[in-house]
Amino acid sequence: MELVRATEAAAIRSAPFIGKGDKLAADGAAVDAMRKFLGTVNFSGLVVIGEGEKDNAPMLFNGEVVGNGQGPACDIAVDPIDGTSLTAAGRGHAISMIAVADRGTMLDASSVFYMEKLVAGHEGIGVLDIRQSIAENIRALAAVKKKPIDEMRVAVLDRPRHEGLIAEIRATGAGTRLILDGDVAGGINAARHDSRIDLCVGTGGSPEGVATACAVKALGGFIQGRLAPGSDEERARGAAAGLKFDHVYEADELVRSDNTFFVATGVTDGELVRGVRRERGIITTESIVLRSRSGTIRRVTADHLENKWLDS
Ligand code: FBP
Repeated sequence: MELVRATEAAAIRSAPFIGKGDKLAADGAAVDAMRKFLGTVNFSGLVVIGEGEKDNAPMLFNGEVVGNGQGPACDIAVDPIDGTSLTAAGRGHAISMIAVADRGTMLDASSVFYMEKLVAGHEGIGVLDIRQSIAENIRALAAVKKKPIDEMRVAVLDRPRHEGLIAEIRATGAGTRLILDGDVAGGINAARHDSRIDLCVGTGGSPEGVATACAVKALGGFIQGRLAPGSDEERARGAAAGLKFDHVYEADELVRSDNTFFVATGVTDGELVRGVRRERGIITTESIVLRSRSGTIRRVTADHLENKWLDS
Protein backbone atom coordinates (compact mmCIF):
# COMPACT_ATOMS: atom_id res chain seq x y z
CA MET A 1 0.00 0.00 0.00
CA GLU A 2 2.99 2.30 0.50
CA LEU A 3 3.78 1.99 -3.17
CA VAL A 4 0.50 3.54 -4.16
CA ARG A 5 1.67 6.80 -2.61
CA ALA A 6 4.41 6.91 -5.21
CA THR A 7 2.05 6.43 -8.18
CA GLU A 8 -0.43 8.88 -6.66
CA ALA A 9 2.35 11.43 -6.31
CA ALA A 10 3.49 10.89 -9.90
CA ALA A 11 -0.06 11.29 -11.19
CA ILE A 12 -0.71 14.41 -9.10
CA ARG A 13 2.55 16.06 -10.16
CA SER A 14 2.01 15.33 -13.82
CA ALA A 15 -1.62 16.53 -13.79
CA PRO A 16 -0.78 20.23 -14.38
CA PHE A 17 0.83 19.16 -17.66
CA ILE A 18 -2.26 17.36 -19.00
CA GLY A 19 -3.10 18.74 -22.40
CA LYS A 20 -0.17 21.19 -22.44
CA GLY A 21 1.64 19.51 -25.30
CA ASP A 22 4.91 18.86 -23.45
CA LYS A 23 5.34 15.15 -22.78
CA LEU A 24 8.87 15.43 -21.43
CA ALA A 25 7.77 17.98 -18.82
CA ALA A 26 4.87 15.73 -17.78
CA ASP A 27 7.13 12.69 -17.57
CA GLY A 28 9.86 14.63 -15.73
CA ALA A 29 7.40 15.79 -13.06
CA ALA A 30 6.13 12.23 -12.64
CA VAL A 31 9.64 10.75 -12.43
CA ASP A 32 10.76 13.26 -9.78
CA ALA A 33 7.66 12.69 -7.66
CA MET A 34 7.89 8.92 -7.95
CA ARG A 35 11.57 8.85 -7.06
CA LYS A 36 10.97 11.01 -3.98
CA PHE A 37 8.14 8.85 -2.65
CA LEU A 38 9.88 5.58 -3.46
CA GLY A 39 12.70 6.75 -1.20
CA THR A 40 10.38 6.39 1.79
CA VAL A 41 9.16 2.85 1.02
CA ASN A 42 10.38 0.09 3.29
CA PHE A 43 12.28 -2.03 0.76
CA SER A 44 15.45 -2.21 -1.27
CA GLY A 45 14.16 -1.93 -4.81
CA LEU A 46 16.45 -2.48 -7.75
CA VAL A 47 15.05 -0.79 -10.87
CA VAL A 48 15.18 -3.55 -13.47
CA ILE A 49 12.87 -1.69 -15.77
CA GLY A 50 13.06 2.05 -15.94
CA GLU A 51 10.99 3.38 -18.77
CA GLY A 52 12.04 5.96 -21.30
CA GLU A 53 15.12 4.76 -23.14
CA LYS A 54 13.38 4.32 -26.46
CA ASP A 55 12.41 7.99 -26.75
CA ASN A 56 15.03 9.66 -24.52
CA ALA A 57 12.49 10.48 -21.84
CA PRO A 58 13.58 11.32 -18.30
CA MET A 59 13.74 8.07 -16.37
CA LEU A 60 14.35 6.20 -13.22
CA PHE A 61 17.51 4.46 -14.38
CA ASN A 62 17.96 0.76 -14.74
CA GLY A 63 20.20 -0.36 -11.89
CA GLU A 64 19.13 2.52 -9.63
CA VAL A 65 18.36 1.35 -6.10
CA VAL A 66 15.28 2.91 -4.55
CA GLY A 67 13.52 2.58 -1.20
CA ASN A 68 14.85 3.18 2.28
CA GLY A 69 17.20 0.18 2.02
CA GLN A 70 15.39 -1.76 4.74
CA GLY A 71 12.83 -4.49 4.26
CA PRO A 72 12.72 -7.00 1.41
CA ALA A 73 15.05 -6.98 -1.60
CA CYS A 74 12.94 -6.55 -4.72
CA ASP A 75 13.07 -5.98 -8.45
CA ILE A 76 10.94 -3.11 -9.61
CA ALA A 77 9.56 -1.94 -12.91
CA VAL A 78 8.42 1.65 -13.08
CA ASP A 79 6.59 3.67 -15.63
CA PRO A 80 5.90 7.05 -14.05
CA ILE A 81 3.53 7.69 -16.98
CA ASP A 82 2.45 5.00 -19.39
CA GLY A 83 0.89 7.27 -21.97
CA THR A 84 3.07 10.39 -21.96
CA SER A 85 1.72 11.44 -25.38
CA LEU A 86 -1.84 10.86 -24.17
CA THR A 87 -1.11 13.09 -21.18
CA ALA A 88 0.46 15.83 -23.28
CA ALA A 89 -2.46 15.73 -25.71
CA GLY A 90 -5.09 15.68 -22.94
CA ARG A 91 -6.36 12.27 -24.01
CA GLY A 92 -7.63 9.49 -21.74
CA HIS A 93 -6.05 6.23 -20.52
CA ALA A 94 -2.71 7.48 -19.14
CA ILE A 95 -1.61 5.81 -15.90
CA SER A 96 1.33 5.90 -13.52
CA MET A 97 2.51 2.42 -12.49
CA ILE A 98 4.95 0.38 -10.45
CA ALA A 99 5.39 -3.38 -10.49
CA VAL A 100 7.37 -5.23 -7.82
CA ALA A 101 8.61 -8.83 -7.54
CA ASP A 102 11.20 -10.70 -5.49
CA ARG A 103 14.81 -9.71 -6.26
CA GLY A 104 16.31 -11.38 -9.33
CA THR A 105 13.01 -12.60 -10.79
CA MET A 106 12.06 -9.99 -13.42
CA LEU A 107 13.24 -10.46 -16.97
CA ASP A 108 15.58 -7.61 -17.85
CA ALA A 109 14.42 -7.04 -21.41
CA SER A 110 15.67 -3.46 -21.53
CA SER A 111 18.13 -4.08 -24.39
CA VAL A 112 15.29 -4.87 -26.79
CA PHE A 113 12.66 -2.16 -27.00
CA TYR A 114 9.72 -4.06 -28.47
CA MET A 115 7.86 -7.23 -27.58
CA GLU A 116 4.93 -8.97 -29.22
CA LYS A 117 2.31 -9.74 -26.56
CA LEU A 118 -0.81 -11.81 -26.10
CA VAL A 119 -2.82 -11.11 -22.94
CA ALA A 120 -6.17 -12.43 -21.70
CA GLY A 121 -7.97 -13.53 -18.58
CA HIS A 122 -7.62 -16.92 -16.89
CA GLU A 123 -9.75 -18.56 -19.62
CA GLY A 124 -6.79 -18.15 -21.97
CA ILE A 125 -4.55 -20.51 -19.97
CA GLY A 126 -3.97 -23.73 -21.90
CA VAL A 127 -6.05 -22.38 -24.78
CA LEU A 128 -4.15 -19.45 -26.29
CA ASP A 129 -0.74 -19.55 -27.94
CA ILE A 130 1.09 -16.66 -29.61
CA ARG A 131 2.41 -19.15 -32.20
CA GLN A 132 -1.13 -19.69 -33.47
CA SER A 133 -2.77 -17.23 -35.83
CA ILE A 134 -4.81 -14.47 -34.25
CA ALA A 135 -7.94 -15.97 -35.83
CA GLU A 136 -7.31 -19.32 -34.11
CA ASN A 137 -6.72 -17.57 -30.81
CA ILE A 138 -9.89 -15.50 -31.05
CA ARG A 139 -11.96 -18.56 -31.93
CA ALA A 140 -10.45 -20.65 -29.14
CA LEU A 141 -11.02 -17.94 -26.55
CA ALA A 142 -14.56 -17.25 -27.73
CA ALA A 143 -15.35 -20.97 -27.42
CA VAL A 144 -14.04 -21.28 -23.89
CA LYS A 145 -15.75 -18.02 -22.85
CA LYS A 146 -18.95 -19.21 -24.56
CA LYS A 147 -19.21 -15.90 -26.36
CA PRO A 148 -20.26 -15.29 -29.96
CA ILE A 149 -17.23 -14.22 -31.98
CA ASP A 150 -18.86 -10.97 -33.02
CA GLU A 151 -19.00 -9.98 -29.35
CA MET A 152 -15.27 -10.51 -28.83
CA ARG A 153 -13.24 -7.30 -28.36
CA VAL A 154 -9.53 -7.22 -29.03
CA ALA A 155 -7.35 -4.33 -27.85
CA VAL A 156 -4.46 -3.44 -30.11
CA LEU A 157 -2.20 -0.41 -30.37
CA ASP A 158 -3.24 1.72 -33.35
CA ARG A 159 0.00 1.61 -35.32
CA PRO A 160 0.81 1.12 -39.01
CA ARG A 161 2.72 -2.05 -38.06
CA HIS A 162 -0.59 -3.54 -36.91
CA GLU A 163 -2.57 -2.93 -40.11
CA GLY A 164 -2.44 -6.61 -41.12
CA LEU A 165 -3.21 -7.80 -37.60
CA ILE A 166 -6.23 -5.48 -37.33
CA ALA A 167 -7.57 -6.74 -40.66
CA GLU A 168 -7.15 -10.37 -39.50
CA ILE A 169 -8.98 -9.65 -36.24
CA ARG A 170 -11.90 -8.02 -38.08
CA ALA A 171 -12.03 -10.81 -40.64
CA THR A 172 -12.98 -13.22 -37.85
CA GLY A 173 -16.02 -11.08 -37.03
CA ALA A 174 -14.50 -9.84 -33.76
CA GLY A 175 -14.17 -6.12 -33.03
CA THR A 176 -11.08 -4.14 -32.22
CA ARG A 177 -10.51 -1.63 -29.46
CA LEU A 178 -7.78 0.49 -30.99
CA ILE A 179 -5.65 2.09 -28.33
CA LEU A 180 -3.58 5.18 -29.07
CA ASP A 181 -1.03 4.37 -26.37
CA GLY A 182 -0.81 2.52 -23.09
CA ASP A 183 -0.75 -1.21 -23.63
CA VAL A 184 -0.17 -1.90 -19.91
CA ALA A 185 -3.72 -0.72 -19.17
CA GLY A 186 -4.87 -2.51 -22.34
CA GLY A 187 -3.34 -5.77 -21.09
CA ILE A 188 -4.80 -5.40 -17.61
CA ASN A 189 -8.23 -4.72 -19.08
CA ALA A 190 -7.94 -7.92 -21.11
CA ALA A 191 -6.98 -9.92 -18.01
CA ARG A 192 -9.52 -8.59 -15.53
CA HIS A 193 -12.93 -10.19 -15.29
CA ASP A 194 -15.10 -7.09 -15.40
CA SER A 195 -13.98 -5.48 -18.62
CA ARG A 196 -15.36 -5.44 -22.16
CA ILE A 197 -11.95 -6.39 -23.58
CA ASP A 198 -11.23 -10.10 -24.12
CA LEU A 199 -7.73 -10.00 -25.58
CA CYS A 200 -4.86 -7.55 -25.93
CA VAL A 201 -2.45 -8.30 -28.76
CA GLY A 202 0.31 -6.77 -30.82
CA THR A 203 3.75 -5.31 -30.43
CA GLY A 204 4.50 -2.72 -27.75
CA GLY A 205 7.30 -1.90 -25.34
CA SER A 206 9.21 -4.80 -23.74
CA PRO A 207 9.41 -3.03 -20.37
CA GLU A 208 5.64 -2.62 -20.49
CA GLY A 209 5.39 -6.35 -21.27
CA VAL A 210 7.23 -7.35 -18.10
CA ALA A 211 5.26 -4.87 -16.00
CA THR A 212 2.02 -6.19 -17.48
CA ALA A 213 3.12 -9.73 -16.57
CA CYS A 214 3.34 -8.72 -12.88
CA ALA A 215 -0.23 -7.43 -13.01
CA VAL A 216 -1.52 -10.37 -15.02
CA LYS A 217 -0.01 -12.86 -12.55
CA ALA A 218 -1.79 -11.06 -9.75
CA LEU A 219 -5.04 -11.26 -11.74
CA GLY A 220 -4.53 -14.98 -12.48
CA GLY A 221 -4.61 -14.22 -16.20
CA PHE A 222 -2.71 -15.29 -19.29
CA ILE A 223 0.27 -13.58 -20.92
CA GLN A 224 2.91 -14.58 -23.44
CA GLY A 225 5.60 -12.38 -25.00
CA ARG A 226 8.04 -12.73 -27.86
CA LEU A 227 10.84 -10.21 -28.35
CA ALA A 228 10.70 -8.15 -31.52
CA PRO A 229 14.11 -6.55 -32.18
CA GLY A 230 14.05 -3.68 -34.64
CA SER A 231 17.56 -4.16 -36.02
CA ASP A 232 20.48 -6.59 -36.13
CA GLU A 233 22.31 -4.32 -33.70
CA GLU A 234 19.48 -4.59 -31.18
CA ARG A 235 19.32 -8.34 -31.66
CA ALA A 236 23.06 -8.58 -30.95
CA ARG A 237 22.71 -6.41 -27.83
CA GLY A 238 19.83 -8.55 -26.64
CA ALA A 239 21.70 -11.79 -27.29
CA ALA A 240 24.70 -10.46 -25.36
CA ALA A 241 22.35 -9.74 -22.45
CA GLY A 242 21.13 -13.36 -22.55
CA LEU A 243 17.78 -12.69 -24.19
CA LYS A 244 16.22 -15.31 -26.45
CA PHE A 245 14.64 -14.61 -29.81
CA ASP A 246 11.99 -16.69 -31.54
CA HIS A 247 11.26 -17.85 -28.01
CA VAL A 248 7.89 -17.54 -26.37
CA TYR A 249 8.27 -16.07 -22.91
CA GLU A 250 5.55 -17.44 -20.65
CA ALA A 251 4.27 -15.48 -17.65
CA ASP A 252 6.66 -17.36 -15.35
CA GLU A 253 9.65 -16.39 -17.49
CA LEU A 254 8.67 -12.73 -17.77
CA VAL A 255 8.58 -12.68 -13.99
CA ARG A 256 9.65 -15.81 -12.16
CA SER A 257 8.30 -14.90 -8.76
CA ASP A 258 4.77 -15.74 -7.71
CA ASN A 259 5.00 -12.89 -5.29
CA THR A 260 4.20 -9.83 -7.39
CA PHE A 261 2.63 -6.48 -6.67
CA PHE A 262 1.30 -4.01 -9.14
CA VAL A 263 -0.01 -0.52 -8.46
CA ALA A 264 -1.35 2.05 -10.89
CA THR A 265 -2.95 5.45 -10.50
CA GLY A 266 -4.95 7.20 -13.21
CA VAL A 267 -3.38 10.31 -14.71
CA THR A 268 -6.19 10.90 -17.21
CA ASP A 269 -9.59 9.16 -17.25
CA GLY A 270 -9.56 5.61 -18.55
CA GLU A 271 -11.43 2.34 -18.44
CA LEU A 272 -9.14 1.02 -15.71
CA VAL A 273 -9.01 4.02 -13.36
CA ARG A 274 -10.20 7.62 -13.33
CA GLY A 275 -7.69 10.40 -13.77
CA VAL A 276 -6.64 13.06 -11.27
CA ARG A 277 -9.38 15.48 -10.26
CA ARG A 278 -8.94 18.82 -8.53
CA GLU A 279 -11.90 20.54 -6.95
CA ARG A 280 -12.34 23.05 -4.12
CA GLY A 281 -8.97 22.42 -2.57
CA ILE A 282 -9.08 18.63 -2.83
CA ILE A 283 -7.16 16.48 -5.29
CA THR A 284 -8.76 13.08 -5.85
CA THR A 285 -6.89 10.09 -7.23
CA GLU A 286 -8.02 6.59 -8.14
CA SER A 287 -5.67 3.61 -8.08
CA ILE A 288 -5.63 -0.15 -8.26
CA VAL A 289 -3.41 -2.31 -6.07
CA LEU A 290 -2.91 -5.94 -7.12
CA ARG A 291 -1.15 -8.56 -5.05
CA SER A 292 -0.56 -12.03 -6.45
CA ARG A 293 0.03 -13.89 -3.19
CA SER A 294 -3.36 -13.00 -1.77
CA GLY A 295 -5.09 -12.65 -5.15
CA THR A 296 -6.55 -9.33 -4.08
CA ILE A 297 -7.44 -6.40 -6.25
CA ARG A 298 -8.03 -3.22 -4.35
CA ARG A 299 -9.37 0.01 -5.69
CA VAL A 300 -8.09 2.96 -3.73
CA THR A 301 -9.69 6.36 -3.98
CA ALA A 302 -7.82 9.04 -2.09
CA ASP A 303 -8.61 12.67 -1.36
CA HIS A 304 -5.47 14.77 -0.89
CA LEU A 305 -5.48 18.28 0.58
CA GLU A 306 -4.28 20.50 -2.23
CA ASN A 307 -2.36 22.84 0.05
CA LYS A 308 -0.06 19.94 1.10
CA TRP A 309 1.04 19.71 -2.53
CA LEU A 310 1.64 23.39 -3.18
CA ASP A 311 5.38 23.49 -2.62
CA SER A 312 6.35 20.16 -1.05
P1 FBP B 1 5.20 5.82 -22.89
O1 FBP B 1 4.07 6.76 -22.67
O2 FBP B 1 5.77 5.35 -21.61
O3 FBP B 1 6.19 6.36 -23.85
O4 FBP B 1 4.61 4.47 -23.57
C1 FBP B 1 3.44 4.47 -24.32
C2 FBP B 1 3.31 3.19 -25.12
O5 FBP B 1 2.09 3.26 -25.86
C3 FBP B 1 3.33 1.89 -24.33
O6 FBP B 1 2.15 1.63 -23.61
C4 FBP B 1 3.59 0.89 -25.41
O7 FBP B 1 4.08 -0.34 -24.92
C5 FBP B 1 4.60 1.62 -26.27
O8 FBP B 1 4.40 3.02 -26.03
C6 FBP B 1 4.46 1.36 -27.73
O9 FBP B 1 5.53 1.95 -28.41
P2 FBP B 1 5.36 2.84 -29.73
O10 FBP B 1 4.64 4.11 -29.32
O11 FBP B 1 6.76 3.12 -30.17
O12 FBP B 1 4.57 2.05 -30.69
